[in-house]
Amino acid sequence: MQITLSTGKNFNVHKIENLLQTFKEQGIYLVASCGGKGICGKCRIKILEGKYRTESTGKLAPSDIQSGITLACRTFPDGDMVIDIPKESRLVVGDVIEISRSKDLFGLFQSMDGVISPLIKWITLDIPPPTIDNNVSDLERLKKALEEKGLHGMRFSLGFVSSLAHSLRDAGWKINLGYTHDPEAVCISRIENKKRFGIAADVGTTTVVVYLVDLFDGTLVDVGSTYNSQIRHGDDVITRIVYATEENGIAELRDAVVTDINNLIAPLVERHNIMAEDIESAVISGNTVMSHFFWSINPEYIREEPYTPSLNTFPVWKAWTAGLNINNLASIYTVPCVASYVGGDIVAGVLASKMHRRSEISLFLDIGTNGEIVLGNNEWLVTAACSAGPCFEGSGIRHGMRATEGAVESIKIDPQTFEPELGVIGSGKPVGICGSGMIDAITELFLSGIIDQKGRLLKGIKTDRIRDGFEGPEFLFYSDGRREIVLTEIDIENIIRAKAAIYAGISLMLKKVGIVLDDVERVYIAGGFGNYLNIERAIIIGMLPDIAREKFIFLGNTSIAGAYLCLLSDKMRKEAEEIALRMTNIELSVSRRFMDEYMSALFLPHTDIKLFPTVEKLLWKFPD
Ligand code: FES
Repeated sequence: MQITLSTGKNFNVHKIENLLQTFKEQGIYLVASCGGKGICGKCRIKILEGKYRTESTGKLAPSDIQSGITLACRTFPDGDMVIDIPKESRLVVGDVIEISRSKDLFGLFQSMDGVISPLIKWITLDIPPPTIDNNVSDLERLKKALEEKGLHGMRFSLGFVSSLAHSLRDAGWKINLGYTHDPEAVCISRIENKKRFGIAADVGTTTVVVYLVDLFDGTLVDVGSTYNSQIRHGDDVITRIVYATEENGIAELRDAVVTDINNLIAPLVERHNIMAEDIESAVISGNTVMSHFFWSINPEYIREEPYTPSLNTFPVWKAWTAGLNINNLASIYTVPCVASYVGGDIVAGVLASKMHRRSEISLFLDIGTNGEIVLGNNEWLVTAACSAGPCFEGSGIRHGMRATEGAVESIKIDPQTFEPELGVIGSGKPVGICGSGMIDAITELFLSGIIDQKGRLLKGIKTDRIRDGFEGPEFLFYSDGRREIVLTEIDIENIIRAKAAIYAGISLMLKKVGIVLDDVERVYIAGGFGNYLNIERAIIIGMLPDIAREKFIFLGNTSIAGAYLCLLSDKMRKEAEEIALRMTNIELSVSRRFMDEYMSALFLPHTDIKLFPTVEKLLWKFPD
């Protein structure tokens, strides 16, 4: 059978399997939030010609089905086919994402420690070259020089010894020897070689960020960022854990993310004329599942009660075991995790926020693919993951998408005409709605009186934009004859669930430690989404607590900032380990009280409007 795409590309298929799988094997990736289970409705394709069998169309409008739209993961070819993959169904991974560098990271480092002590230490040795009268082996010669410097018990791996003969002679027997704290010899360089580099990597569920750092002076040399290609196997960690249990699943997930990191490192070293061998260490900061995948460790029991990871504290392993394209013997430090759903990214975030050093009580919120919360100060720290899910990144929302080109990121609705005004990322037409657009949409629908406190679209509003869709009532935000963007009542319900989970997590945590909102001096907002979060609107919908706005501080990507700190200093690594040990994890998913808090938060902004005094005042200004 031959499959031809509307772009002209064609290929032959020899076995009957669903088209999502067929495309994947050809290196063509579609958005597959649910991992191919037929429930997210994101893998839409248009059949232009050919016979096929399709199993489920529950997520498609009758008009879509009539026009030949099917779900790739539920469609099987019955002969030659011609297919169009719409723009919104194409998964863009591997693209470089523009990210801004964290502000003055070295300034942050200096304010916390100031002493650079990377994972690899260096010692200068002047080794007498062999002569006919003294021709003991190269390794014995090296050991003797180390003993003379008072360094005993050094270990030497086969990888190190196999290149020793050339390394010593190339360096003219005057060498710098890099070794780990154990101690184990890692690399040899000429005395005049001043190049020492490290990699800090934030391995997120959605994005991967890499910093190339000069380990001599702590300079951030360059940055790279891309989407985590594991997205091909599902948007959220649970879908990916399920994928990991399939044959070869873990290996594929590991290869995907390691390839992403290697693809980011390659242009960085080329641009700065650095040898990959000169990168002597790396720090990986990720949630618990991502850290497991990076090391190819089975994460299966993370998703099953009692939610147990294989490990939280990772030994320092070598680069070659991970497959990173840096010095083979480079040390890789993984920021320690706390529990199944509170990982090294949160520990790194707390480290970078410095909340664990201050006496005042702070709240740290990482709102990304999930929602993690830390509350505490220099004496205590409690944490919880509030399973908000990846809805703000587009998952579970009919026209939801990540904040990329074509995403509606801001919305205003005229309260008289109910006509929306859309702000779109990039110069093209809108394709879908991203997280900040969703928060805007709910706020505007609510303030214009189009939805009620439960998020239901109200009948009797004079606008054609409220209509009955195939999944029930929906509000039409955009239509150009070809493409429509709507929010259905089901979408609105999903967004309200996500915001309720975050607020309920905060609320329960405060109650558990016996404090009130007024006791919280600062609220740190971290995570990719955090950068674009409109605080005022997040309060109006009841996602964030209604407290003084000046208490909110945006920190950007704290996972990478913490990884940078750990890369530079032994003291920072120890501090991260102490933070992980000090954090008390509250398992919200099994808490009855969390369910009660959550149910109360399933309103706009909340069942108890008194908890949102500024929103209450605002609603007086906008009566129904
Ligand atoms: S419906 Fe096909 S991947 Fe989700």
